[in-house]
Amino acid sequence: MPASTRRGLVLGAGAIAAMRLAPVRAGSGAAHRLVLAPAEANLVAPDGPATPVWTYGGTVPGPVIRARQGERLTVEVENHLPVDTTVHWHGLRLPHAMDGVPHVTQEPIPAGGGRFVYSFDLPDAGTFWYHPHLRTSEALGRGLAGALVVEERSPLPVDRDLPWMLQDWRVTREAALAPFGGFHDAAHAGRLGQVVTLNGSAAEALAVRAGERLRLRLVNASSARVYALEFRDLAPLVIATDGHPVEPHPPEGGRVRLGPGQRADLLVDCLGEPGSVASVIDHGDPRFAYGLVNLVYEAEAMRHEMAPMPPRLPPNPLPEPDLPLAERLVLRLEGGARGGLTREMAGRGVAWTLNGLSGHEGHHGHAVLATLVSGRSYRVEIVNDTAWRHPMHLHGHAFRVLSRDGAPLLRPEWRDTVLLEPRERAEIAFVAGEPGDWVVHCHVLEHQGAGMAGLFRIVA
Ligand code: C2O
Ligand code: CU
Repeated sequence: MPASTRRGLVLGAGAIAAMRLAPVRAGSGAAHRLVLAPAEANLVAPDGPATPVWTYGGTVPGPVIRARQGERLTVEVENHLPVDTTVHWHGLRLPHAMDGVPHVTQEPIPAGGGRFVYSFDLPDAGTFWYHPHLRTSEALGRGLAGALVVEERSPLPVDRDLPWMLQDWRVTREAALAPFGGFHDAAHAGRLGQVVTLNGSAAEALAVRAGERLRLRLVNASSARVYALEFRDLAPLVIATDGHPVEPHPPEGGRVRLGPGQRADLLVDCLGEPGSVASVIDHGDPRFAYGLVNLVYEAEAMRHEMAPMPPRLPPNPLPEPDLPLAERLVLRLEGGARGGLTREMAGRGVAWTLNGLSGHEGHHGHAVLATLVSGRSYRVEIVNDTAWRHPMHLHGHAFRVLSRDGAPLLRPEWRDTVLLEPRERAEIAFVAGEPGDWVVHCHVLEHQGAGMAGLFRIVA
């Protein structure tokens, strides 16, 4: 069902839908259990036909895992899917052996009951997420993704803290998932769907109260869709990007832009009248804006005066790169349709290269793009020499985004995924972390699967 018709639903389902948006606690403290299994989900409409999906813990998205900064997180994974898997903890700085990359940091967790225990400390607070790293396009496209919230030692005083997982689905007329693996998607913009869900639901309404303060934790868990969210009649403040605090500011151009893999934490004060509605509109596809969700004010206000601004989030203990001493590297993105894609590459199922090399999870393995020394600072110029957008992600690190097309950024924010427009350049800087082979790849998962992945080898 095209999003345009789905979005025509009336608000009647709001009350129930709003409950579904409540965060699910996967249990607190020490150990979590994550069982992967097939299930069904009502993706296209709350009472619509069920879609067969793959799940963590029976639901799409998977449970919100909440932990506290400084704690140790232990997650026991049990795989009852028909395919092997791994779990990658996107954005976390963690030991290399826990990073969840098949054949690089661990062997896959076998289908039909295989187990693996992930256990690591959490140095940083913020909004992160988890997903498989094996046949990633299909695994995420079938629903495997969940939010991982690491709370600050003293969390911000808000009325509700709501993860918003954004997922994009390509479905057939019967609401089944369309077949995976087309090379056309891989060589163009990736697998774009026709149905967007918020926390697994096609629901269109979230009940709020006048005077209420929300912390929204947006996660773009879609394969390829870039969101540009307008919060109409609201004045959201961006307080963190990819988990890391920034000076609170209104979204640039009035829209919260999120490439695949990226996150944004927003502080939203519900300042409307009881009974009114505020809409969140996605302009990510310039040809086609649609309403993502409506914030529907209940009849009773929560408070009549806004609470004072909460304190700034404390920074995470990230090592600051030494810019004057940093070694310079270049990461050149090439290939793709209307670009460097050759017939010979297509014959091998490859559409993209990084510095002339292409990596294939599984078959050919990943190529080493650069060798770095742990503890040293690096500035990497990422050059997008293609006609397409690429959200470039580095595992196990956070980096500062210094400039775009040579222009220094007003706020050199910390990120783990930087979105490059066609032909754009961006410079990032970071301190090389724990020794090991850390994956760097495009988070358009079909690009990743078609060569846009390699390794930064960090040595002691
Ligand atoms: Cu979100 Cu290599 O992954
Ligand atoms: Cu890409």
